[in-house]
Amino acid sequence: MNLQGINHLAFITDDMVKTIRFYRDLLGLKLSTGIGHEGYRHYFFQFPDGVTHVAFFEYDGASVMNRKFPGDRTSLPLGFDHVSFSVDSREDLFGLRDRLEVAGLEVEGAVDHGLFWSIYFYDPNNIPLEATWQFMDVLKYPAMSEDDPLDIVNEGCDAQPGHWPAVKNPTAESDMCAESGNGHPMRQHFLAQGLARFSSGVSRDFQNSLLSSDTDPNKT
Ligand SMILES: [Fe+2]
Repeated sequence: MNLQGINHLAFITDDMVKTIRFYRDLLGLKLSTGIGHEGYRHYFFQFPDGVTHVAFFEYDGASVMNRKFPGDRTSLPLGFDHVSFSVDSREDLFGLRDRLEVAGLEVEGAVDHGLFWSIYFYDPNNIPLEATWQFMDVLKYPAMSEDDPLDIVNEGCDAQPGHWPAVKNPTAESDMCAESGNGHPMRQHFLAQGLARFSSGVSRDFQNSLLSSDTDPNKT
C-alpha cells in the first residue's frame, strides 16, 4: 500500500461561476466533473496529469475565507495555510504572473526559495495560492537546512518500523464494501451518457457487482 499523490483538494466557494472563471479560464485547469442539485454543487478541476484535482463545494450559506498571506504566523485555529501548484519553467511562472496582474489580481513575488521560485496570489474565495517553478533536484533525503534538527529527522526519510500497531485482521475481500455517497448517481448517469467508463485494470467481476447493485437498490 502506497499513497500515490494528491487526488483532490476540496475547498468551499460561495459562487461556482466566479470559481470556474478563475480555475478554468484564468489558470487553465480542465473543468472535469461535477454534481449538483438544489442549493448544492460539487465540481472538480483537473490538472494535466489527469489525476490531481482541485474541487469546490458550493452551497447556500457558504462564504469566502478570511485572507491570510502564505506563511504568515497566526494563532487562529487554522490547519490550512496555502496550496502551491507547479509550473514547468521560468517563462510559465512569469507568464502566469502577467495574466494575474492583467486581470487586476494581487500578486506577490517572484520569491527565491533556494530550490524554487514562487509567486503568491489568491483565488476568488481568498484561498491563498502559490505557483512554484522548481529548478533544483534534491540528491539526498531528508535534505534539511536547520540549526537544530529534530532527532526524528535523523532516523531517515523512509517509514520507520515499530511505531504503529501492525494489522492483525485485515479486511476480507467480501467485506470491502462502500456505502452510497453524494456522488453515487454520477456512475449510472455518466455510463448511460457515455461520459465515463471503468478504468483499465478494474476487474469485470467488480464492475458487474457495481452495475447489479446500481440497478437493484436493495442489493448492496
Ligand atoms: Fe509554499
